[in-house]
Amino acid sequence: MTGSAGFIGSHLVEALLRLGQTVVGLDNFATGHRRNLEEVQELVGVEAWRRHRFIEADIRDPDACREACDGVEIVLHQAALGSVPRSLANPLATNATNVEGFLNMLVAARDAGVRRFVYAASSSTYGDHQALPKVEERIGRPLSPYAVSKLVNELYADVFARCYGLPSIGLRYFNIFGARQDPEGAYAAVIPRWTRAMLLGDVVTINGDGETSRDFCFVDNAVQANLLAAMCEDPAAVNQVYNVAVDDRTSLNRLFDILRAALLDCCPDVRQLRPVHGDFRPGDVRHSRADISKARRLLGYFPSHRIEEGVRAAMPWYVSRLGVAAGVR
Ligand SMILES: NC(=O)c1ccc[n+]([C@@H]2O[C@H](COP(=O)([O-])OP(=O)(O)OC[C@H]3O[C@@H](n4cnc5c(N)ncnc54)[C@H](O)[C@@H]3O)[C@@H](O)[C@H]2O)c1
Repeated sequence: MTGSAGFIGSHLVEALLRLGQTVVGLDNFATGHRRNLEEVQELVGVEAWRRHRFIEADIRDPDACREACDGVEIVLHQAALGSVPRSLANPLATNATNVEGFLNMLVAARDAGVRRFVYAASSSTYGDHQALPKVEERIGRPLSPYAVSKLVNELYADVFARCYGLPSIGLRYFNIFGARQDPEGAYAAVIPRWTRAMLLGDVVTINGDGETSRDFCFVDNAVQANLLAAMCEDPAAVNQVYNVAVDDRTSLNRLFDILRAALLDCCPDVRQLRPVHGDFRPGDVRHSRADISKARRLLGYFPSHRIEEGVRAAMPWYVSRLGVAAGVR
């Protein structure tokens, strides 16, 4: 499994070890953190942790990919440089990891004869297609280099299935959130960024009028989708891509209220907070909401958490990570 020190990857390592699986993780800590793995180690305990081997390496290195796939039954490929703005600032870096690195992993998985290649695709692939909810077969033109890289992943996976018989499943994640999603840095996702700002008393800036909407999806739902994709036996379900979301649309204005409400108990000062509105962000799609009936039908996917439940489950981690600095009691 690649990207194992990252947000979603570390949750997958945790879930797999709890299920008694043996896990080989690979990460170069580009955006992931050693402390995520330390936290998982603490959560699963020493016994389970013995079934985990970590390779500190880069997927841009074909030999590292080969080592990671050696003797492996199923690949869960999560490593990538996320963020639309990052890709606009540095398209070469995004392409090197997300396209060349992805191709290295496909070649390594093919050569190792793995049973299945499950990979992180993205809702950004819908690009400028206006229809809502988003249905897997109907995509538009990509709006950023990041979106191009994730579309290319799907094209390569499809070609490797047809040309080399490598079975794969792509999971188009829609705004996944939860504990261990990095709140720091210029490219932090909206939920950790705002949570951090609220806890530290910083300004929360909404890009645009706040009516931009997303299908926010708690990380446990993404873990569930990966496990189902890894295990499903139905041949019709393989060599497909699936939306991984909740089929719900939340505006940024509403998200602000949800986060503030979830932090009220531990941090009453947030009641006073008012957001500031900034410019719209280039490359962002206006609305996003997923039709999840394909994943339901072919994988048996059923999201366990809607946004409010997910936010409630995630907040204690942010409070303990950032709360001391914020003076939360
Ligand atoms: N979080 C979301 O909402 C979301 C939405 C759509 C798609 N995705 C995709 O899901 C995957 C996981 O994202 P995440 O949110 O956990 O982000 P993350 O940044 O926390 O995790 C990505 C991990 O990949 C590692 N990585 C990056 N470049 C690497 C390289 N060259 N070699 C080895 N490791 C490398 C990073 O160090 C990090 O640990 C990514 O492929 C991302 O594009 C995420």
